[in-house]
Amino acid sequence: MVAGLEREEGEKIMDMKGYYKDKVCIVTGGNSGIGFALSEELLRRSATVYMAGRNPSKLAAAAEVLKDHGERVRTIVVDVTKQEEVQQAIERTAAEAGRLDMLFNNAGIGGTIQFEKATLQDWRTIIDTNTWSVIYGVYAAVPIMLRQGSGHIVNTSSIAGIVPFPMQGLYALTKFGVTGLTECLRYEYAEKGIRFSTICPSNIATPIFKKSIDGTVHDQLAIPDDAYPADRAASDVLDRMAMGDGIIIVPEQPGTDFWKGYKAGNPEMEAFLMKMAHDRRESLETRGTYF
Ligand SMILES: NC(=O)c1ccc[n+]([C@@H]2O[C@H](COP(=O)([O-])OP(=O)(O)OC[C@H]3O[C@@H](n4cnc5c(N)ncnc54)[C@H](OP(=O)(O)O)[C@@H]3O)[C@@H](O)[C@H]2O)c1
Repeated sequence: MVAGLEREEGEKIMDMKGYYKDKVCIVTGGNSGIGFALSEELLRRSATVYMAGRNPSKLAAAAEVLKDHGERVRTIVVDVTKQEEVQQAIERTAAEAGRLDMLFNNAGIGGTIQFEKATLQDWRTIIDTNTWSVIYGVYAAVPIMLRQGSGHIVNTSSIAGIVPFPMQGLYALTKFGVTGLTECLRYEYAEKGIRFSTICPSNIATPIFKKSIDGTVHDQLAIPDDAYPADRAASDVLDRMAMGDGIIIVPEQPGTDFWKGYKAGNPEMEAFLMKMAHDRRESLETRGTYF
């Protein structure tokens, strides 16, 4: 356990010594959903946040919402699928701020589609956006953090990056890769002072559910009714990062039971995933959505 952090009764975690206070953080996908919520919660915990996004006007609008945090709110325009842009954004931020304490490689896209319907362009788009983006970010940040002897890199994977949900083969390929990379590096760099965490969200209430792989927004698609609020997810994640957790499933249930059941080869989980494949195919084919 990290010094200064204590689990209180009921597992409430207190950031006693301010793990985030005065930290310099970059959050990709900071203009929307989980990235915006992480940015807001980091600011509430006294960090300086460079919100990174590809669309200047969306980014400016998101930063405007957080303007009460003053100079601690910064923006960087960057397309995470472009290596040179990611490299420059991270190096310039570290040079401007004097260091880089935390990098949240969070930008990403969803993709729930029958394997036979996905085009090779869909594969390229989702791998570039969800996996290469993370490699680019880590590649740029590790040398900076090695020089500092400290840092925390947080990659957003998914519950679908630890459990193989049917109709999510494309997405799973990208997110299992992110989980594997992040977990390996967690051990590889621990003695160098660099921490790694993997965020594995289940359904969090964000616009991701309305978007297809090519970025089209489908207004007729809904966010699931039972999706967990993004602000609570962000707060849970930051608490658990500060505790030194590696894989962070948020919300903890039902994701943790799915993960344990799958790892254990639980026959009930096997039956659950088989039924999910049938139900999702039927739902995608009749209603165009999988839930
Ligand atoms: N919400 C969930 O239930 C859930 C579950 C599991 C995992 N996740 C993961 O959580 C992360 C955040 O997703 P979200 O739910 O918050 O979705 P979101 O609201 O759609 O946010 C995605 C963010 O990524 C940005 N982005 C996408 N492609 C980009 C690119 N090429 N360059 C720069 N930024 C790019 C988007 O920018 P634009 O606004 O410009 O498109 C947006 O800011 C993703 O990695 C996602 O896979 C989410």
